[in-house]
Amino acid sequence: MGRLVVVSNRVPAPRDRQQPAGGLAVALRDALSEGQCLWFGWSGQQISEHEKAERDVSIDHVENVTYATIDLTHAEFDGFYQKYSNAILWPLCHYRAGLMEYNRKDREVYLDVNELFARKLLPLLKPDDLIWIHDYHLFPLGQALRDLGVTSPIGFFLHIPFPPWSLMKALPGGTKLMQNMQAYDVIGLQTEDDARNMNDGFSICGVKARAQVFPIGIDPESFAEQAKAGEDLAEVQRLGESLAGKPLIIGVDRLDYSKGLPERLKGYETFLQRYPEHRGKVVYLQIAPVSRGDVEEYRLLKQGLDEAVGRINGSYGDFDWTPVRYLTHPVPRHLLAGFYRLANVALVTPLRDGMNLVAKEYVAAQDPEDPGVLVLSHFAGAAPEMEDALLVNPHDADEIAEALHKALIMPQAERKARWALLQPDVWRVTAGSWARDFIGTLAKVKRA
Ligand code: ADP
Ligand code: F6P
Repeated sequence: MGRLVVVSNRVPAPRDRQQPAGGLAVALRDALSEGQCLWFGWSGQQISEHEKAERDVSIDHVENVTYATIDLTHAEFDGFYQKYSNAILWPLCHYRAGLMEYNRKDREVYLDVNELFARKLLPLLKPDDLIWIHDYHLFPLGQALRDLGVTSPIGFFLHIPFPPWSLMKALPGGTKLMQNMQAYDVIGLQTEDDARNMNDGFSICGVKARAQVFPIGIDPESFAEQAKAGEDLAEVQRLGESLAGKPLIIGVDRLDYSKGLPERLKGYETFLQRYPEHRGKVVYLQIAPVSRGDVEEYRLLKQGLDEAVGRINGSYGDFDWTPVRYLTHPVPRHLLAGFYRLANVALVTPLRDGMNLVAKEYVAAQDPEDPGVLVLSHFAGAAPEMEDALLVNPHDADEIAEALHKALIMPQAERKARWALLQPDVWRVTAGSWARDFIGTLAKVKRA
């Protein structure tokens, strides 16, 4: 098999390369552990317009992986990342066409940056490479590489949902975007629904391409080990002591409107209203690090959440009880694993999510003898694999409230039985199996 070349907008920062954090980086760790690999993408740095002419690819080697990154100008960062990727494609793919802020100029910058990626990557490529492109930032990159004469197998994986064509066609230039997908030999999505939507789009646009399902997972063994080891960490013990015997409800999400955070808080507020017996007797810890904080919609979301948390704590709190503990900074993964294990309930209620790895991490982190309960949205890509969680409609505050009450009073035998039904799939569909399946399929294309 040829060398694996991974391309994504985000590449782990140098300090994270030994122990990467974040869904995409963690998921790719196994895929990058064998043979020589190249990972190409944005450096995370911005430069001024007059530095653009001098810009070059930075190369850095860590074990068998070569990291090759380029800087973006402020204008490229704005048009390509903030606007077209995160204020147009992201809302649309998460079924929120109303939040889309379309501007033709941003589309041009998006296409230009994809061409820039292709031009900068080209000299680094070898003839027998397998090229694997990731996510919505880079939909047209395959075609841009083909236009430069690249004949290697190229695969594309979309980490986020893909909506029905009736919605996607709201994107000006959407048909062209679909036509460009013909450049890919393998196209992967997270769920059957997403693949069906994309394939319907292909047939309506007359595009000869086919999307397949490659569900993503975590590395359950190492996560479970981390969670168990977390029991001995001072920070995890401090959290435990601060609870003073109260059950812990945990939420862990990037601060993103797709995660349903305002709706979740409304659900928790309804729970406190409808079940007064839990007031003063439960703690909800929401960890929601700020993400894409310069995009307007994300700024508004944070304002709304700050207010909602203040309102709930003001109305229901007491001098010795804070109903919601709310952090907007990230927590290191080893602590997060320990926090999950301590939590009696995880609230994972996105309005729409490609997969949602937090749901799988929570299951992996549990003590099999005394597991917690997962409350999961029907609209997480993980839901079809996790039907033994308490599934809820995140738009229905009463349903969230009822599920929380049910989770908190659930007998241990039922918690164990539900966990035993959730666990096998989390161990079967892993980050490793996902990457192996995708790369194996791409490698066969080459032989054909
Ligand atoms: P998304 O890719 O949309 O952010 P996922 O749930 O699929 O959502 O993946 C998020 C990843 O980032 C998970 O591995 C999760 O543990 C990690 N993560 C999310 N929130 C935090 C946080 N507050 N601190 C540290 N890691 C986080
Ligand atoms: O999973 C979707 C995704 O957009 C990844 O591509 C990305 O790395 C992650 O979420 C975090 O988003 P961002 O790179 O915009 O911080």
